[in-house]
Amino acid sequence: MFYPQEIIDQVIEANNIVDVIGSYVPLTKKGSTYFGLCPFHSEKTPSFSVTDNGSKQMFYCFGCHTGGSALTFIMKYENYSYSEALKVLADRAGITLPKPDYSQAVSERYKKKQRILDAYKDAAIYYVHLLRSERGANAYKYIKDRDLDDKTIRDFGLGYSDKYRDDLYQYLKKKGYTDEELKDTGLVSIRETDTHDYFWNRLMFPIMDTSNRVIAFGGRVLGQGEPKYLNSPETICFEKSRNLYGLNIAKRHKGKDLILVEGYMDVISLHQAGFTNAVASLGTALTDNHASVLKRYTDNVLISYDSDGAGQDAALRALPKLKSAGINAKVVDLNPYKDPDELIRALGADEYRKRLKEAVNGFIFEVGVLKRSYDLEDPGEKTRFGNEICNRLSYINDELEVENYLQVFCARYKLDYEIMSSKVKKLALGHEGVEYAPKTSGNNINKDNRQKDGLEQNQKMLLAHLANDPSLYEKLSKIIDESDFGLTPYDIIAKLMFNQFRQGKFNPAGIISSFEDCNDQEQAAQILYNDFADMDDETRKKALTDCVKKLKTNHISRMIEEEKDIVKILELKKEQEYLKKLVIFKE
Ligand code: GTP
Ligand code: MN
Repeated sequence: MFYPQEIIDQVIEANNIVDVIGSYVPLTKKGSTYFGLCPFHSEKTPSFSVTDNGSKQMFYCFGCHTGGSALTFIMKYENYSYSEALKVLADRAGITLPKPDYSQAVSERYKKKQRILDAYKDAAIYYVHLLRSERGANAYKYIKDRDLDDKTIRDFGLGYSDKYRDDLYQYLKKKGYTDEELKDTGLVSIRETDTHDYFWNRLMFPIMDTSNRVIAFGGRVLGQGEPKYLNSPETICFEKSRNLYGLNIAKRHKGKDLILVEGYMDVISLHQAGFTNAVASLGTALTDNHASVLKRYTDNVLISYDSDGAGQDAALRALPKLKSAGINAKVVDLNPYKDPDELIRALGADEYRKRLKEAVNGFIFEVGVLKRSYDLEDPGEKTRFGNEICNRLSYINDELEVENYLQVFCARYKLDYEIMSSKVKKLALGHEGVEYAPKTSGNNINKDNRQKDGLEQNQKMLLAHLANDPSLYEKLSKIIDESDFGLTPYDIIAKLMFNQFRQGKFNPAGIISSFEDCNDQEQAAQILYNDFADMDDETRKKALTDCVKKLKTNHISRMIEEEKDIVKILELKKEQEYLKKLVIFKE
């Protein structure tokens, strides 16, 4: 942090957010909240909300999910850096900022990150320029032959990397980047005897984060060649396992389904055909991180992977990840076409829309794939197939869901309903409350990730409840504090929040504004802006109790692992036992 937290809090408190944003965007009051047209995406009916209610002082767009404090707004609207935006707000309130403290390692990292982002932006502009120039004529013809129109080419910022060995390097050097900085970008390889660009004679796809900043590139050969696609390496700005291509546009579809595809061209082709809710995980299989990112924007995902074996396998692997993130997933059948791009180009958007409608439920898809390895004409194999269905069904807790599946499978595969039903019930008794885990080699890693994601989800939930109702602090502080969070993406928010509570002045906009990065600010806002309006009191209390117990139990487990003194271990175990019976809210 460049500035002490007290100064940030002071600047944020001195500026009413409705006044600040109101000077840029016309706002109308509805109830206790102000609404206007969102300046960050185009819309006709206002979904951009601003509240100065209580201590909140935040904005949030229900259309494109952009949100944050007055500082976030200025950064995004004016395209200002953190310190520029803070200065605007300080000036507005007549506060003189102290000299920023650049000495800490964290600000070093921030500066480095900013330089990489700047270089990627400049590189993207350079590639776009080349595509439009004579040197890019072949590449331009290549995309035109793939039926992309100029609007699409512009919307996705497509470009071209030239055949010269180091023209990008020369260009960026002229822009003032040092060799050291350029090495960090991964876009060039710099050696004493040989300096060359990473991408050479390729169609360039800039990969953007949800704030529309270029953080990586994909490059495709023009025509045939190996490797077909090349991705820029991971940097401190780009984590493959968290980023989804196209999400910067698709995120505007609040509450609607998202379509998950395999490749760049699938995303682009779908967007051009009007399916602007398509995203892709690039060059990697879907991860648990991807799944939790998706969950921020939707509860329903349509998997539209390639129809070949690899694509279907990838769908099978994605399904449990989506499920454990709390997403309903269906699988789209593209046969006889290879991928969405090819299907759309051959049969058009209406046919694809039809395929989306006919997408099959993930569980039915899994059983369908399973069936291929059994010969149902053979009674022995048919029995084993039936047993495996029963086994899988026995892990589903919802009785009605089991019933519905049973009906589908018994009719489809001519299995006896009564026998199947009673088998499922017997099996279910053996493992109540246990989750189905298919026997694959990578399963242990998945489980670890799942637990980690679950824990992070709990932490997020707890912070959201506390922010929504600060009066909970008194009750909860007897049980839990920031030390229970460990090292997770939410530990900083927890620390700031508990500190503010201890000082008796909760200032969520101040917390948001302490993050230098716009994306981090948005994430913090998503947690601190929740109003749980769709949750009744009873459910809220139950969810909160659950969160507290899980968080605390997990923390104690970590302590037990590190503890060597057996007496202390027993004490900790006792504490865990006690936690199980903990009642936070008395009737
Ligand atoms: P087009 O042939 O241009 O239509 O691409 P596609 O999307 O149909 O390609 P494919 O199904 O072969 O690959 C899907 C995605 O996997 C691509 O969009 C890339 O992100 C990734 N991919 C494909 N080939 C390679 C490769 O050689 N290297 C890497 N790193 N990624 C690849
Ligand atoms: Mn393709």
